[in-house]
Amino acid sequence: MLQLGDFKLLGGHLGRVYYGRIQGKDRAIKIPNDEQGNFLQIHIRKQQLFHESNFLTSLNLGRAPRPKIIRAFGPQLCQTKNGLVQGLELEYLIGSPCSSFISKNGPVELIKALKIIRDISEALTIVHDSGKIHGDIKPDNIMVFDRVFTREDFTSFSQNTWQLLQKKGYACVFLHEGTEYLMITDNFPLLSDYFVWDEKQKADLFAMLDTHAILYDFGTVQDIGKTLLFPQTQEYQAPEKILNPINLIEAEIYSLGLTLFELLTGTIFIRIQNKDFSRLDSKTTTEITQQHERLIDELKQTNLPCRIKALIRWMTFYDTSDRSGSSGVQNRPQNCQKLLTMIERIIRDIAEA
Ligand SMILES: Nc1ncnc2c1ncn2[C@@H]1O[C@H](COP(=O)(O)OP(=O)(O)O)[C@@H](O)[C@H]1O
Ligand SMILES: [Mg+2]
Repeated sequence: MLQLGDFKLLGGHLGRVYYGRIQGKDRAIKIPNDEQGNFLQIHIRKQQLFHESNFLTSLNLGRAPRPKIIRAFGPQLCQTKNGLVQGLELEYLIGSPCSSFISKNGPVELIKALKIIRDISEALTIVHDSGKIHGDIKPDNIMVFDRVFTREDFTSFSQNTWQLLQKKGYACVFLHEGTEYLMITDNFPLLSDYFVWDEKQKADLFAMLDTHAILYDFGTVQDIGKTLLFPQTQEYQAPEKILNPINLIEAEIYSLGLTLFELLTGTIFIRIQNKDFSRLDSKTTTEITQQHERLIDELKQTNLPCRIKALIRWMTFYDTSDRSGSSGVQNRPQNCQKLLTMIERIIRDIAEA
C-alpha cells in the first residue's frame, strides 16, 4: 500500500496526480479527486479511474510498450488522509503538457505541431483498434517531449555515447528526484559534423532529438458507439457530438483538428457559455453551429499554408445544414490511419522542400 502523504502533488481536476518513487523508479500515481463535489460526482470519478486503469493496464500486458500512449503499471491501493482509495500507477512523464507549452511560448512551429498531431493520430489508431474512444482530446492531455531523455531511452547506445555527448558539451545530465535525465543542448551540431555514426545510430539519435508527444489522461475512455457516460471538455467536442452525445471516431478527429488549430494559432478556439451537458438548450446548439462556421472563417484569415488549412478543414468537416447526425461528417477522415498517412506525407514534403 502506498502512503500518498509522502508523494508530491502534480495536478489534476477530476483526478489527482502525484509524483513518487516506487521500487527505485519515477512514477505518477493518479487517484480520483474525492475532496470536491457530491457523492455521485465522486462515485463517477472512481468509475472513470477504474476504466482508465483497466484500459491502460491491458494495453501494456503481454505486448510491446506503446511509446505514443502513456504506460500504466496497474492499480495501486493508496492511503490518503481521507482513507483508502484505489489509484493507478503510471510512468512519470517529464515533458510539458501542450497547453502549458502554448501558454508559455505561444503558437508552435508548423513542423513541430504536425509531429505532435502525427504522434497522437498514431496513439489514437491503437486506441480505436481496441474498440475504444479516448473522449477528451485537447492540448492539456498531450505531453510533449523536447530533447530530454532518460537513460532508459538510450538503450541502443553504449554508456560511452552518453558520456561523449556530455564531454563535448552537447548534452547535460540533470538529476530529477533521483533519476538521471539527459538534455540535448542547443549547440548540438549537425550529425555529419560530429563523429562517425552508423545508419542505425544516426536514425535512433535523430528520432530521439525529434519532438514527440504522448497521449495521456484516459479518464473518459469508453467503447466506440456508446452514449457518453462521463463529462468531457465541451470546448473540444465536435458539433454533432454536442447535439447527439455518442462516442464516435470522427468526433475524436474533430477534437484533434481543433487541437492542431490551437497549436498553430496559440488560441483556444471555441468558447461555450452553457457548460452543462445535461441541459442543452436550443440557444447552445445554435451557438455551437455558429462557432463551427466561425472556425472556417478564422482559418481563412490565418496565414497558414493552404495545405494546412485544408488539413484542418478536413479534420473538422461538418455540414451545418445536416442535422441528422452521421451524414454531416461524411467528408472528415473516417479513421486515424488515413489521417496519419496524410500527415506523414505533409511532414515528408516539408522536410524535402
Ligand atoms: N504521468 C504523468 N507524469 C507527469 N505529470 C502528470 C502525469 N499524469 C498527469 N500529470 C499532471 O497532472 C495533470 C492532471 O492529470 P490528468 O491525468 O490530465 O488528470 P485530469 O483527469 O484531472 O485532467 C496533468 O495536466 C499533468 O500536469
Ligand atoms: Mg487532463
